Amino acid sequence: MDPLATLEEALASAAPKVGEAATVEDIDRIESALLGKESAVGQVRRAMAAIAPEDRPRVGARLNEVTTEIQRLIEARRAELQAAEDARRLAEDAIDVTLESVRMPAGSRHLIQQVIDEVVDIFVGLGYRVAEGPEAELAWYNFDALNTPKTHPSRLESDTMYLDWGNPEDEVLLRTQTSPVQARYMESHQPPVYIVAPGRTYRTDTVDATHLPVFHQIEGLAVDEGLTLGDLRGTLAHFAREFFGSGTQVRLRPSFFPFTEPSAELDVSCFACDGGEPGCRVCGGAGWLEMLGCGMVDPNVLSAAGYDPEVLSGFAFGVGVERLAMVRHGLDSIKNFIDNDIRFLRQFP
Ligand code: DAH
Repeated sequence: MDPLATLEEALASAAPKVGEAATVEDIDRIESALLGKESAVGQVRRAMAAIAPEDRPRVGARLNEVTTEIQRLIEARRAELQAAEDARRLAEDAIDVTLESVRMPAGSRHLIQQVIDEVVDIFVGLGYRVAEGPEAELAWYNFDALNTPKTHPSRLESDTMYLDWGNPEDEVLLRTQTSPVQARYMESHQPPVYIVAPGRTYRTDTVDATHLPVFHQIEGLAVDEGLTLGDLRGTLAHFAREFFGSGTQVRLRPSFFPFTEPSAELDVSCFACDGGEPGCRVCGGAGWLEMLGCGMVDPNVLSAAGYDPEVLSGFAFGVGVERLAMVRHGLDSIKNFIDNDIRFLRQFP
């Protein structure tokens, strides 16, 4: 074997062979065929020891040059093939961002929750805190602590749902109002008290256009030294203006609740006709809308909570959330709130 001739031959055949490679695997194979142990170049490398010492430097130098040159050809081709392969893979894996995706419609809070949040915000703005109580309540908090005698008709099963649970003497019931939160809060907090208590309430009512057996109220309670009916009126007038609009008027009409003395109903001027358009769709021409119950906290309620009615006075109110929402949006049936009709709910995003 003439080592130099073998090397020149190997170098000359390398370029076309490398050019034949179509994939990265091909180039790996060609690399071992051109430079591996069994290749012509490999044989020259192994034969070096047997070459005459005077020829060795020349052959060795050429061996290195040829090896380096073939290596360069291989690497250049490998880089080309690798780039082409990467490009193909990228094209295959590409995500078409212009494709329509499966749209998850954004939901929204239920109108009842929206009204609760709005009312609570108005009172929080006045410095009130939010309080909560249990829906399964003791008769003591729902009635007795609120100055409601054992004989009061609202305690009958025709009005109140009792639970067959716990000690029968405790009379566990589903609270008929959020007012028991007043009693619970005063029992565990020192005055002054300024709270609103939103929540779910239950009554033995048959569903009709204005009644649901499960509905919502927001209770308000303020107890401090020197609170008067004027504070009650001013606070509720502020609330009415914030909720129904700045031109809203309020009036108090005498009423009765066991836990307040005196008690009143708060009416707000009709925001639709601004006070007395015959046949107005919202107020029917009355000019006023009955809004909520309120009054000065009965001294017996303060005493039952361990407060001294000689030092402290307070006012309270309870408003129906469904009623607020219906009046404001001119809704004619309370059933809208529980029908789960997306066409109704969508109107209040
Ligand atoms: N709890 C009463 C009801 O359900 C509403 C109410 C009236 C609450 C007067 C009060 C109040 O706190 O002072 O009809």
